[in-house]
Amino acid sequence: MNLRHRGKFIDLAEEAEREKHSRVTSDLVLGKWIIGYLKGDIGLVILAFIFIAISTGLGMVSPYISGAIIDQGFGENPIVDGNYQKLLLYCLILFGIAVSLAVINLLKNFILYRIGYSSVKRIRSETFAKLQGLSMEFFDKQESGRIISRVTNDCDKINELMSGSIITSLTDFLTVIGVSIFLIVMNWELGLITIGIAVPPTILISYIFKVRAREAYRKTRKTIANVTSTLSESINGVKVSQSFTREGQNIREFRKVNLEDRKANIRAEAIFAATYPIFNFLSSAVVGFVYLYAGWTIYYSGSTIHLPITPGEAIAFTQYIGMFFNPILNLTMFYNTFQSTMAAAERLYELNQQTASVLEKEDAYVLPRIKGEVKFKDVSFAYVDEQYVLWKFNLHVRPGESIAIVGPTGAGKTTIVNLLARFYEVQKGAITIDGHDIRNVTLESLHSQMGIVLQQPVLFKGTIKENIAYAHPDTSLKRIIKAAKVVNAHDFIKHLPDGYDTDIGESGKRLSVGQKQLISFARAILHNPRILILDEATSSVDPYTELLIKKALTKLLKNRTSFIIAHRLSTVRNADRIIVLQQGKIVEEGTNEELLAKKGEYYNLYQLQFKEQEEQEEKLEDDPSSSSGSESSK
Ligand SMILES: Nc1ncnc2c1ncn2[C@@H]1O[C@H](COP(=O)(O)OP(=O)(O)OP(=O)(O)O)[C@@H](O)[C@H]1O
Ligand SMILES: [Mg+2]
Repeated sequence: MNLRHRGKFIDLAEEAEREKHSRVTSDLVLGKWIIGYLKGDIGLVILAFIFIAISTGLGMVSPYISGAIIDQGFGENPIVDGNYQKLLLYCLILFGIAVSLAVINLLKNFILYRIGYSSVKRIRSETFAKLQGLSMEFFDKQESGRIISRVTNDCDKINELMSGSIITSLTDFLTVIGVSIFLIVMNWELGLITIGIAVPPTILISYIFKVRAREAYRKTRKTIANVTSTLSESINGVKVSQSFTREGQNIREFRKVNLEDRKANIRAEAIFAATYPIFNFLSSAVVGFVYLYAGWTIYYSGSTIHLPITPGEAIAFTQYIGMFFNPILNLTMFYNTFQSTMAAAERLYELNQQTASVLEKEDAYVLPRIKGEVKFKDVSFAYVDEQYVLWKFNLHVRPGESIAIVGPTGAGKTTIVNLLARFYEVQKGAITIDGHDIRNVTLESLHSQMGIVLQQPVLFKGTIKENIAYAHPDTSLKRIIKAAKVVNAHDFIKHLPDGYDTDIGESGKRLSVGQKQLISFARAILHNPRILILDEATSSVDPYTELLIKKALTKLLKNRTSFIIAHRLSTVRNADRIIVLQQGKIVEEGTNEELLAKKGEYYNLYQLQFKEQEEQEEKLEDDPSSSSGSESSK
């Protein structure tokens, strides 16, 4: 019972996944696609096949030699018939075979792993590159967990197929054929009888086992998924559950799913545990039969006629029989492994066939340095077919103008800037910058003149320095510090243990929301865009950081066309123009004063949302020391 088999049985569990996802791409297409990734290693593949053929062949000779040692080395009566020289020769051959097998198998395994991992590396790199270029529409539809599983698990399955199961199956196949030939050549009658009694029950038991194991492992997949999701939910939601004192209930729930997982696994292992003893029994029974048959023929044939089977042949026979069962079992299993690998391959293949929905035109030109005049002309857009978020939307923004967009949640504020950045394609109408339709210019030249600070500040693992210099990794530290100073981030960064070299953890976990925002401002200012897009975070930061952000913003907005989806009164008030958006339509526009005087939607919003902020701001401006808890205030 070796690990190889174990791996195969666990593969069966993948079938549940396969069944959910019925295949549309043929094995031939997928096979060609996978083989394409072997191109760089053709020499190694050929070498691997040669090694496999040699090692299977050599492995097959040993029992025959063992038989010859008995018959020719010892003879019927070793003292009279014994041939010491032959005995020595055969033993040397056996020794030689053992040494060659060890060396060849070592090399073969090394080559196979190399082939497998090299192709996985190629597939992964290509998939990653593909993902980098896909449009938002794709990511909206896919859960990130699924995409990650393609690049990790599905790639692993292909690796397993290439470096393991295809080769093992080939070896198994050659072994079954080779053993059958040896059995028939040595003694065709006994050979055929042995094959006849060994093969049908082996296939039958393998089949029964296959079906049972599949069911059992499918169940374990479900139970372990429950354990994982319960665990991850409790880790992500630990604050909430502790605040609602749900710990006791959570522990009980976890205990339950954990228990179910134990039950399912024990069941699956029991099936697994039963199979090999059954096969061993079968193997011994057939061996017993061969000895019986040999004994019987020797006994009844008397010493005068030619023996139908010699003792040496009986030994060789039984050794061959021992080599017969595992390969048949494995071959029965291979179909499953192959199917589940092909399902994984198909998922990866589909991912690699994706094309970006926002495509650069073939004759796209580089957008020259812009002044920053933006026009939305009768723009209509829906994320999901026909459900328009914007309908005939018009907006004209002058170069250098700052536009604050306010409005209720779901009004389409983020959508406007998504379209301007061409993360999505407008369905009707056009967006122009300095008269250039954004669909006619290269994406790089468009994005290089645009800075985006998102609703949830997005930082990457690494240091503060690396995050500020994200778009321009070669920037000098001096310029990075300058950018940080402009947005008032320098003060808090300088007080961190490693300053600009502080590791901020995955997605900036080790920073506060306000700090993250200041860093993303610094990143934007270093990029020095002509058009700045700011999707302000709704999450509140402490009043002092708020003041820092306000000052930073003033500097950030200077001399640029800017779109600010504003939740802060200060930003809204300072904008050149405010537009109030409702269900994708501009219902009011003007300056803060104009709109307040109008006592319309903006006025209502102001009363609801900004009143409190105004009072806080006034208080802070009177007495800045009244804020609490910001590191920057030190
Ligand atoms: N990726 C998406 N796929 C499908 N529908 C979407 C997607 N993003 C937004 N929507 C829908 O489009 C509408 C406008 O969303 P949008 O994100 O522009 O709102 P918003 O004004 O920015 O709201 P908020 O203030 O909450 O950020 C909403 O009804 C929303 O459900
Ligand atoms: Mg939004």
